[in-house]
Amino acid sequence: MAITYSEKLHTFQLDGKSFSYVIGVYPEHMNFIQHLYFGAKIPVGENLRDMNNFGWHASFEAEQAEILELDPPEPFFTDVTGFEYPTPGTGDHRDTALCIRNKDGNSVTDIRYTGYKIYKGKNRLTNLPSLYGTEEDCETLELYAKDYYTGAEVTLIYTVFEGSDALVRSAKVCNGGKDALKLENCASLSFDLKTMDFDFIHLWGQHNQERNLSRTPLQHGTQSIDSKRGASGHYHNPFIALAKHNADERSGEVYGINFVYSGNFRISAEVTTLGTTRVMAGINPFEFRWNLLPGEEFQSPECVAVYSDEGLGGMSRTFHRLYLDHLIPERWAYTKRPLLINSWEAATFDFDTEKLISFAETVKDLGIEMLVMDDGWFGHRNDDATSLGDWFVNENKIKGGLKHLVDEVNKLGLKFGIWMEPEMISPDSELYRKHPDWAFAVPERTATLSRNQYVLDLSRKEVRDYVYECVHNVISSANIEYVKWDMNRQLTDIGSVEFAGDRQGELAHRYVLGVYELQERLVNNFPDLLLENCSGGGARFDPGMLYYSPQIWCSDDTDAIERLSIQEGTELIYPLSTMGAHVSDCPNHTVGRSTPFMTRAHVALAGTFGYELDITKISEEERAMIPEQVSMYHKYNDLVREGDYYRVASYRENGLYDCWMVVAKDKSEALVTYVQVLGRPNVHSRKIKLLGLDVTAGYRLDGTEKVYGGDLLMNAGMLIETMRGDYMSRLYHFVLDNSLT
Ligand code: DGJ
Repeated sequence: MAITYSEKLHTFQLDGKSFSYVIGVYPEHMNFIQHLYFGAKIPVGENLRDMNNFGWHASFEAEQAEILELDPPEPFFTDVTGFEYPTPGTGDHRDTALCIRNKDGNSVTDIRYTGYKIYKGKNRLTNLPSLYGTEEDCETLELYAKDYYTGAEVTLIYTVFEGSDALVRSAKVCNGGKDALKLENCASLSFDLKTMDFDFIHLWGQHNQERNLSRTPLQHGTQSIDSKRGASGHYHNPFIALAKHNADERSGEVYGINFVYSGNFRISAEVTTLGTTRVMAGINPFEFRWNLLPGEEFQSPECVAVYSDEGLGGMSRTFHRLYLDHLIPERWAYTKRPLLINSWEAATFDFDTEKLISFAETVKDLGIEMLVMDDGWFGHRNDDATSLGDWFVNENKIKGGLKHLVDEVNKLGLKFGIWMEPEMISPDSELYRKHPDWAFAVPERTATLSRNQYVLDLSRKEVRDYVYECVHNVISSANIEYVKWDMNRQLTDIGSVEFAGDRQGELAHRYVLGVYELQERLVNNFPDLLLENCSGGGARFDPGMLYYSPQIWCSDDTDAIERLSIQEGTELIYPLSTMGAHVSDCPNHTVGRSTPFMTRAHVALAGTFGYELDITKISEEERAMIPEQVSMYHKYNDLVREGDYYRVASYRENGLYDCWMVVAKDKSEALVTYVQVLGRPNVHSRKIKLLGLDVTAGYRLDGTEKVYGGDLLMNAGMLIETMRGDYMSRLYHFVLDNSLT
């Protein structure tokens, strides 16, 4: 890791473990901040200027001329060269990163480099989730630029991390002029690649079907994904990758982009007629209007760019390690989580103290460590039509109160966790009757109900304070050690009585800032609380949420086979320990499929692992398997949480079987999970080539005396035992054994 400034070449070079990123600020190019290179590592101090020929640049005559800072740009140049933070109106007709509406009503903006700062370490952003690091493990570059006409001052912030192939970027705009400005776009990241020879990869989805991988070759024009839903959403994860056509799991170049934000976003790849590609990520400019008065500043969220020359697998491992070491709360990143059972799929709204205690009694000897009471314990909520906002316990159901219930569960030796949906309000609630204006709504229009609820206007401090107080009071009222923070609808009718008409375009972002403020207060005041985010399943599974909660509920679809694709998509970016994954009952409530109880456990072991079923109703045979599954959790969870993830085979691709591995960082053990989705005739055995092992070491298959070379397992492969039937699975645990060497 290093950041180097070359005075001679006017370049900044940011080096990661195996990539370089180079920026040029040549005075003879009128102090534009040019993007010169992002790719495999190159020597420091190379003159990339002549190689930055995005088309016609090589013949740009002005290079020879003496150009003043305020000289107008040459459109032939601005439309084709690579920029770090492109602006509109002066000849770059591609997508632009910044849009500032000035006092005259136009958005012509022209930022020129004014200086830089390089320092060890990284500052956390205020009020936004951000990557963190110490002076030993990261280094930061700030580039300063100015639009001389409006006085807008732009800071581009870049951090590289020791031993990592990740680069974190954000931008800050300060109104240094005399007139009010309106920010209509402030992207977090932009860079230009010199080729279009990539596949565009993204994760699309919907409720019960989150994060499906799509891969298509880049075409001329713009390919983009976005959210206009107020949350990152089910439909597109805030992630894209550009992968060389030949890149696969194991090799080839890949650029991964993941936006650290939980609201409206847009990530795009624009291919020009010259065959260059502009990559851009940030808050969605759709409906975004932020007022910037003189002296005020706006900080964009951060965006992570990962470079991999080890294919998608290399990209995944870089994201995973970065998030474990520099994003997820340190208190939890590598900490084992209590093995929980959640009441939702077991009981939905139909429970009371007695039923919950009987659950706890049944599970206490099976090794389950925490009981989570999901939706339905407050107000008079017996279905999803009422009571959001009335965060006081329903004593008709929870007889004796919350503390009594928690104490009783604790007495049985179990911890207790609770569900809340703090961002919402039901029209049928005391809160709404008292404060109808606390819900987002637009004057004279009837606001749209979704799941019978409105969204609270978290742009308002008094609303946030009320919400925080409710959450705080619930958690303080008993020994509550876990909170599942849910969010079950998207934003509509985004209007606030608090803000003037010309500030309504700020609301979607203010809402997200409000959510962040609430979660920040919560984790600061309850540092040992385990927070799990959730949003109608996995609609807010993004790095912004991971800054506050080390785990996120992956999907309401708990069918083991559906989960293979959902978890494969999730693991592409996010560490295994962040994936909320439970064993549920069959036939599965989403698809009606029945899978073996052990297969459900093997699939859930890839994530946080827990249960989500009525333990009093499952068969004796299944109940008897729980202690074995619990001991597998204890045996393998350290490895799953801390090891490196390798995708070996994908059911999504082959339609027959799925296989993934976790290998210890020191390569001393590995866990292989194999799921045979479809049984086929004449498949007596299947050979699987393992990944990530030490080729010079020997590995013993746990439970046997058989020792195999790492090279053998990786190059020739291992034989999977014959299994008869569909939905069958096996775990193979290998431990280092050099007795044969
Ligand atoms: C949606 C979540 O994804 C479920 O797990 C459950 O908590 C329900 N909400 C409760 O309403």
